[in-house]
Amino acid sequence: MKKIHLEEVNSTNTYAKENIEKFDDKTIIYTDRQTAGRGRFTRKWVDLGSRNLYMTIILHPGEKFNENFSNLTQYLSVKTCKVLEEYGVKPQIKWPNDNLVNNKKISGILSEAVFRSGKLLGIVLGIGVNLNANLEDVKAIPDRIATSLNLETNKEINRDEFLDKLAKTFFEDYDNFLRNGFKQIKEEYKNYLVLLGEKITLQHLSQKVTGIFSSINDDGTITLLTEKGEEIFSIGDIL
Ligand code: BTN
Repeated sequence: MKKIHLEEVNSTNTYAKENIEKFDDKTIIYTDRQTAGRGRFTRKWVDLGSRNLYMTIILHPGEKFNENFSNLTQYLSVKTCKVLEEYGVKPQIKWPNDNLVNNKKISGILSEAVFRSGKLLGIVLGIGVNLNANLEDVKAIPDRIATSLNLETNKEINRDEFLDKLAKTFFEDYDNFLRNGFKQIKEEYKNYLVLLGEKITLQHLSQKVTGIFSSINDDGTITLLTEKGEEIFSIGDIL
């Protein structure tokens, strides 16, 4: 595993995508400042200053896309929970891969696959974790109620130490995960999962779907019990 530090970049994911062929498998790009950080569904990822984590893991898991690759965001969300626990907080996961503490979003994950001529060049798996932020800045984040690890622990967090713990935890089981997929982490994931069994509204593409969140399945998808019956979703955003 190699780490590359950039003082400033538009987005670690964009940079990793544009330069994917230059970097070996398991390279980590991280930065002090993102000028155009991106979130899921064309949202922005707000820069909260250089003591927060903005990093992208570059992966070259093979030339053919495998279903397990789409669960890497869920795998990373479980590993992020493990690291957050080391700081004495109680992390949760909101499907598919938002990490929460006290019901407030503390980190977000964005995975992008890069193809050329039908061949998978690699995957860029980006994560932003709010580690040291001001309450006013966190309150100004649009879309979600957010928090930061320093606000939850009343302690200054060492970004580089957090990054090293996360990288170590991520790669410990990574090769097995590529073989086994979501089933490998399902029970752990479920222990962190919020809203299971509750009535939720899912933004699915351009539609809003309301139903009971009845199960998390072996492939990481969810089942909602709606007025049409059981419906399975692999993407979306719980509102
Ligand atoms: C989300 O919650 O919508 C996903 C947010 C992902 C943010 C991270 S920060 C590092 C990497 N670079 C980006 O531009 N986005 C991801």
